[in-house]
Parts: sequence; structure tokens; C-alpha cells
Amino acid sequence: MPTAFKLFTGSAWMVLSRSFVEYCIWGWDNLPRTLLMYYTNFLSTPEGYFHTVICNAPEYSSTVVNSDLHYISWDKRPQQHPKMLNISDTKKMIASGAVFARKFTHNDLALDKIDTELLGRGNGSFTPGGWCAGKPNCSKVGDPSKINPGLGADRISGLVSRLISPSKLTRRQCR
Ligand SMILES: *[C@@H]1O[C@H](CO)[C@@H](O)[C@H](O)[C@H]1NC(C)=O
Ligand SMILES: *[C@@H]1O[C@H](CO)[C@@H](O)[C@H](O)[C@H]1NC(C)=O
Ligand SMILES: *[C@@H]1O[C@H](CO)[C@@H](O)[C@H](O)[C@H]1NC(C)=O
Repeated sequence: MPTAFKLFTGSAWMVLSRSFVEYCIWGWDNLPRTLLMYYTNFLSTPEGYFHTVICNAPEYSSTVVNSDLHYISWDKRPQQHPKMLNISDTKKMIASGAVFARKFTHNDLALDKIDTELLGRGNGSFTPGGWCAGKPNCSKVGDPSKINPGLGADRISGLVSRLISPSKLTRRQCR
């Protein structure tokens, strides 16, 4: 086991801040690079790399939010298995503000509903955005940094505000 840093694990489903990603990529500090080499030969890299970097970087460790941003509906105790989500769960799922959800069966109708109603994706197409040019079908890329927040942004913002409330934030941060 390494002694220069402490290992952390968590969910592979996460959202990273731009500032933290820049810290990892630009490499003005050696830590992200050192850990990249370490995690190259380690199990479950997606469940440990960013967690270990952020929890060993004093300038970022206090920004950790301990949530995996998943909507999961558990079956009754004592099994505690995630239920298969379907179209009947979409209302609660969307209201939760979660950015990820599991589990779905292959090609479930709930996924089509997410595509058409939340993402505005046509069949086999991509999600249009503020960067689209070439109306009406978004056939050209305009300004790629133009991202217009929609209702989903409000929901995520609500979720994040709840997650970073002082009583929740510091509890179990980097433990
Ligand atoms: C959705 O799943 C629940 C069980 O979690 C089931 O009772 C319900 O019938 C399902 N609905 C549809 C539309 O498949
Ligand atoms: C989506 O497109 C595929 C082929 O590209 C087609 O097989 C499928 O039926 C289409 N689905 C809908 C809902 O139109
Ligand atoms: C835009 O997409 C629609 C539906 O796929 C299609 O009917 C229409 O011809 C497209 N328009 C252009 C300008 O490509």
C-alpha cells in the first residue's frame, strides 16, 4: 500500500467541477499524475481515481459531495436490490433531479420518454442545444460553448443545493 497518499473509493457515477478537472489535466501539481500511474494497474479505477485525487488535494477535499447522483428505487427489505424502473417511475425520477438512474430493462419505454421529453432527441439523433446552428434540424455546429440551461438545469441545481446543505455536506466527506 502507498504511504504518500491515502486511497479512497466511491461510486463511478459522479459530476466533476471544471476547476477540479483542470487541476487533474493541467498537472501543475504532481498528485493527479502520480495517481494516474498508480491507478493504471489497480482494480476498479473509475471507483477510485478521482476520489483519491480529490481527497488528497487539500485545496479540493472540502468540495467533495458524498452522493452518487443516482435515482434508485430499492425493493422491500431485506433484499435491498434496485428495482427495475419503468414508465410509472418517470415522474418521481425526474422530480428527484438525479442525473443518473438505474436499472432499466433494454429499450424500456421510460428511456424513450427521457429521450423525447427531456432531451429532445429524435430517433437515432442527438440532443440539440444552444450551440446548434442550421435550423431547424441543428445541422451545423454553432458556438460550442453556448449551452442554454433548461428545466433540467433547475432540477440539478435544486438537487445540488439540497446535497450541499451544511448538515449534509461535511458528513462523511472523504471518509
Ligand atoms: C412498473 O413496475 C412496477 C413494479 O415496480 C409494476 O408494478 C408496474 O406494473 C410496472 N409498470 C409498467 C407500465 O410496466
Ligand atoms: C428509429 O429508427 C430505427 C432505424 O434507424 C427504426 O428501426 C425504428 O423503428 C425507429 N423508431 C421509432 C420509434 O421511430
Ligand atoms: C428536418 O428533420 C425532419 C424530420 O426528420 C425532416 O422531415 C426535414 O426534412 C428536415 N429538414 C431539413 C432542412 O433537413
